[in-house]
Amino acid sequence: MPDALFSHPRVARVYDPLDPDRSDLDTYVDLVREFGVDAVLDVGCGTGTLACRLAAQGVEVLGVDPAGASVTVARAKTGAERVEWVVGTVEDVAARPDQRGRYDLATMSANVAQVFLGDEEWLATLGSIRTCLRPSGRLAFETRVPADRAWERWTKEASHQVVDVEGEGPSRTGCRSRRWTESS
Ligand SMILES: C[S@@+](CC[C@H](N)C(=O)[O-])C[C@H]1O[C@@H](n2cnc3c(N)ncnc32)[C@H](O)[C@@H]1O
Repeated sequence: MPDALFSHPRVARVYDPLDPDRSDLDTYVDLVREFGVDAVLDVGCGTGTLACRLAAQGVEVLGVDPAGASVTVARAKTGAERVEWVVGTVEDVAARPDQRGRYDLATMSANVAQVFLGDEEWLATLGSIRTCLRPSGRLAFETRVPADRAWERWTKEASHQVVDVEGEGPSRTGCRSRRWTESS
């Protein structure tokens, strides 16, 4: 089921302007170079920044995301025609015979892995990614570091900002205040 947040057309349009520094993607670009990757499956491609960047370097890329509004933004980017875009899940991609064993690398940039909250969902996703990878293929994804206690910064006071986004006007961003309970 698509994430309601990323399926919202305005959220999709302000996603890139609100987070213009994508140096977090450098690690994925480095992996492509280090492992001599020819084909990438970008799972949870969102607005397509990584997919377009890799395609511009001559890498074959398929970007998949269930949020149609985000993929619409991706499709409008310079060089987007070099990428194959799929609105759906990686299960949809794995169901296509032409996609089986096709990719050297699957990527989940910017905490895509954290959208899978249950073991069943995560294992199904990993299984479908495995189907799409070549026997020596790799999956690169991110985890949070619990010791960083990032959630302590997910407060209105620490995170709220207003950014004037061209064409969209002032856009408020930040985390809602929430109470966390810890056992000890
Ligand atoms: C924080 S965004 C990251 C987008 C992009 N990878 C980036 O680097 O900007 C998380 C993305 O995960 C996507 N997502 C949510 N559920 C998903 C699923 N079941 N399969 C694939 N992607 C999913 C959302 O639609 C959203 O685009």
